[in-house]
Amino acid sequence: MRKKIVAGNWKMNMNLEEGLSFTRTVNQYFIEKPARKAEVILCTPYIHLNGVSEIIKKGKVGLGAQNCASEASGAYTGEVSAVMIKSTGAQYVIIGHSERRTYYHENDALLSKKTMLALNSGLKVIFCCGEVKEERETGKHFEIVKRQLKEGLFSLSAADMENIVIAYEPVWAIGTGLTATPEQAQEMHKYIRDLVNEKYGKDIAEDLTILYGGSCKPSNAAEIFSKPDVDGGLIGGASLKKEDFVAIVEAI
Ligand code: PGA
Repeated sequence: MRKKIVAGNWKMNMNLEEGLSFTRTVNQYFIEKPARKAEVILCTPYIHLNGVSEIIKKGKVGLGAQNCASEASGAYTGEVSAVMIKSTGAQYVIIGHSERRTYYHENDALLSKKTMLALNSGLKVIFCCGEVKEERETGKHFEIVKRQLKEGLFSLSAADMENIVIAYEPVWAIGTGLTATPEQAQEMHKYIRDLVNEKYGKDIAEDLTILYGGSCKPSNAAEIFSKPDVDGGLIGGASLKKEDFVAIVEAI
């Protein structure tokens, strides 16, 4: 059965106390009013993981990190490994967000390595893909997304693929207020599902959760989520306000 997910990506926002207090509020909300149709996940900075994990023990909200190291352990000052993330109680990690690809020069080979490490540590991976504005304007968006998936994901086994969630995030829509139209999102999600079908077969493709991300907000979420191949969202800016985040979850 294909799972619907709404994941909040806090990015580099909120200090420890703000993050924990936000989590208490959101967690309490979903205890009182459980999200019936979607799994709700908070993807927090590393420093919040342990504290958030304690809070959500009583509740239904899931937890993820936004990145992990590309090595398993050792002398890598400043890095946080997938095993460490897993040990906090987190279940997910975002890999390949466009901000990591752009600002930290993470390429397909590195992302493939991180994905393997995360899966081997028992985490599920929210793997991001998406084209920049110029690539869409020149009609290269399908080709770009295909390359990102082939190089980043398609060396995984079928069993590993079951622990992958794909997030399609057109870079031109992230934090810009520009959203892909529901038709543009559906077209790309269908294309992604078809690629997975070709590589892994119908069962895995049909069960794969594909999220949309990029300026998703309460006013556009319902329309985007209504498309047959859109199984939820990866929410940045709007995940920092409880009312907006909850409204997006309810739009499913
Ligand atoms: P946004 O970010 O909702 O602020 O556009 C989405 C994301 O980057 O995951």
